[in-house]
Amino acid sequence: MPLPVLQDKKERLVDTTCIDDFLLNDWYVVADLSQLDIKKRIITYLFDKKIKIEKATNGSVNVYSEKKALPIKLKYGFIWTSLGCPKRQIIDIPEAFEMDRHIISGGATQVNTSGLRVVENFLDQGHLSWVHPGFLGEQPHTEIPDYNVEIIDDEIFVSNVKLYQPKASTAATEGFLVAYEWRVYRPLTVALYKANSVHKDKKDYIVLFIQPINEENCIVHSFLCYLSDGTSKEEVRWFMQVIFMQDKPILENQIPKKLPLAPRAETPIKSDKVSIVYRRWLNEKAIKYGAIIND
Ligand SMILES: [Fe+2]
Repeated sequence: MPLPVLQDKKERLVDTTCIDDFLLNDWYVVADLSQLDIKKRIITYLFDKKIKIEKATNGSVNVYSEKKALPIKLKYGFIWTSLGCPKRQIIDIPEAFEMDRHIISGGATQVNTSGLRVVENFLDQGHLSWVHPGFLGEQPHTEIPDYNVEIIDDEIFVSNVKLYQPKASTAATEGFLVAYEWRVYRPLTVALYKANSVHKDKKDYIVLFIQPINEENCIVHSFLCYLSDGTSKEEVRWFMQVIFMQDKPILENQIPKKLPLAPRAETPIKSDKVSIVYRRWLNEKAIKYGAIIND
């Protein structure tokens, strides 16, 4: 049963082409806080609107659009804002406060496609051995065993995944069957819990905060909480960037750039299971921005 789309314009701080209240009334990363140490003013975009981020002489950070002040939060080393009235808090990440981890930004990468496509690709096990050979997959280990997908408290959880990876991280000295779990918190916020290469009973944590620039462009901000044993911050960041640079051209070549949400005609294969759940979940929230509703 689709949720009703609220059209209460009083909740909008500025007018935008995005009419999805579920998306608008939420917090988005618009910059890495450390960027403001280099420049005092950052210009960026959110839902087609120009956003100005400025650091005042007293050190406070302000975000504006069309000369109106927008809400602001500083968390996990990022600057967050909203064009609406956030109904939810910024997600809680207990791993970000654990002392045995490197807590770092993995960088911001502009990708010329819908943010929803980036989330779907991040959840896709099938591409790992083709797009990241030698790192996150390898032939002939291309089979995807069945796994669990469930929705709990309006979030999607993927579990019971084990993937053979020749080089799962910079700390990995040999290939092994890596336990994976994913969590989709929001339509544009997705995280991966991945067995650590040294302490295989513990998990590294990677989350993507996706900033929609417009319906077919986004900036992907990654936040990494990796166990520090056996690796350095620089290595963790390097690995993330190498992997993401392999994904970027694949994502940018996908046509159409918006994510089709109509039930697909082709017979689903096992690795498509999470993609079908994600698309259905977006449909139930009546998400239109960056999506194609009718084929
Ligand atoms: Fe990938």
